[in-house]
Amino acid sequence: MNYARSIAFFERARQVVAGGVNSNVRAASRPVPLFYREGRGARLVDVDGNEYIDYCLGQGPLLLGHSHPRVLDAVQRQLEQGQLYAGQHELEILVAEKLRQHIPCAELVRFSNSGSEAVHIALRVARAFTGRTKIIKFEGHYHGWFDNILVSVNPETLDHQPVRESRGQTESVLDEVIVLPWNDASRLQEVLATSAPDIAAVIMEPIMCNTGCILPESGYLEAVRDLCTRYGVLLIFDEIITGFRLGLGGAQAFFGVTPDLATFGKALGSGFPVSCLAGKREIMEQISTLSVVHAGTYNANPVSLAAAWATLQELEQNREMHYQNLFTLGQTLMRGIAEIAERKGRRVVIQGLGPMFHVAFTTRPRIRDARDYRDVETVEYAAFAYRLQERGVRIIPRGIWYLSTAHTEDDIAQTLESVAAAL
Ligand SMILES: Cc1ncc(COP(=O)(O)O)c(C=O)c1O
Repeated sequence: MNYARSIAFFERARQVVAGGVNSNVRAASRPVPLFYREGRGARLVDVDGNEYIDYCLGQGPLLLGHSHPRVLDAVQRQLEQGQLYAGQHELEILVAEKLRQHIPCAELVRFSNSGSEAVHIALRVARAFTGRTKIIKFEGHYHGWFDNILVSVNPETLDHQPVRESRGQTESVLDEVIVLPWNDASRLQEVLATSAPDIAAVIMEPIMCNTGCILPESGYLEAVRDLCTRYGVLLIFDEIITGFRLGLGGAQAFFGVTPDLATFGKALGSGFPVSCLAGKREIMEQISTLSVVHAGTYNANPVSLAAAWATLQELEQNREMHYQNLFTLGQTLMRGIAEIAERKGRRVVIQGLGPMFHVAFTTRPRIRDARDYRDVETVEYAAFAYRLQERGVRIIPRGIWYLSTAHTEDDIAQTLESVAAAL
C-alpha cells in the first residue's frame, strides 16, 4: 500500500495539532496515523485511495456501519431545521421513551455527548444519592479519560493499589477509588463488609471489553447485584460498548441483571456524539431536583438525537436480522481466525461474543483478568494489525474487533484470507 498522502498530511498535522492526532489512542497506527476520506458500509477509504474492511468502526459507534442512509437522512432532515436550540425538542422525548422501553434500568435518562461525560454524571449522582464518596472500580476496566476514574486500567502494581494512568492527574483522585480484581465476588464482599459506609457505587463494564473482552463468570453479576443491594451501594454498569451492541437492552437485558444506573454512548448515535445516563427513578431524581448539576451546551443536541432516533428505529424494526447477523458473522470470524492460527501453529486466544471480540497472542489458555492481559504480545499484535492493514483490513492495534450490521459473509471470507496471509 502507498501511504504518501497520509504521511504528508501527518507531517502538516504535527505542526498544528499536538502529536498530530486528537485522541491519544489514534497515535498507534502505522506507518503514521492514517487520514481517511470516506466510509461506506463496512468499508473505509484513506486519502491515498486504499480501501479497508473496517473492524474499528469509529472505536465502536458504527454498529450500522459507515454512512447508514437512514441515519444520514434523519440528520440531514434535522439540519434543515437547525442544529442547536439550547431548549427542548421532541426527539429528546422520543429517544428517551425508546430507551425506557428497551433498557431495564432506564426509568429516567439524561443525555450528554461522550461516554466520559456520562460516567462523570453517573458517579456524581451516585455520591449525591448515597451521601458517600468512594467508588469501587475494577482493574483493567476503562470508564473514560476523566481524572477521577482514569485509574488502574493498565495496572502496574501487584497489590491492587490504585494507579493513575496519566501524568497531570492529581494524587488525591486515588483517595476516592478502591480498585479490586473483577470476577471475584468474595473479594468484593470482604471490602463491602468493612467499608460499605464509605462506598457510593461499584462501577464495571459488564463484559470487560477494554481488556481482553472477558465475560463475567457464571453467577458473578448476580452476586455483585445482591451484594450492592445488601450493602446499600449503587451498581453502575458502564454499557458504553455493550449498549445496543449485544441487543437493544444492552448487557443488563442480555444477562438479566439490572443495575441501578447505566451509561450508554458509542452505538447510540451511530457516530454522532451522544451519550446517556439511565437509571432508576428515585436515584435519577437527584438531577431532577436540580441540586445535582448536570449541564452541557451540546447535551441532547437535535442532530445527535436525530441520529440516535434513526439508529434505534433501524435496530428495532430489523432487530432479529441485525442481531443474528452480528452474532453469526462475528462468531464465524472468531472461529475462522482460531482455525487459521491453529493451522499455522500460532497461539491465539479469542474471547467475546461476536458483535465484539478480542484477539491476543499469548501462551495462556485464556485471559482471565487484567494481570493475564499484561503479558499478551502487544508488539507482535501491532505488527499483525499492520500486516492486515497492508491486506485491506483495518483493526484496532490493541486487540478488540467490532462488527457492524453492514459486514457481509463476503467481507468475512475476504478478511479470513487476509488473516491467513498476515499470520
Ligand atoms: C466502557 C467505556 N466507558 C467509557 C468510555 C469513554 O467514552 P468516550 O470515549 O465517548 O468518552 C469508553 C470509551 O472507549 C468505554 O469503552
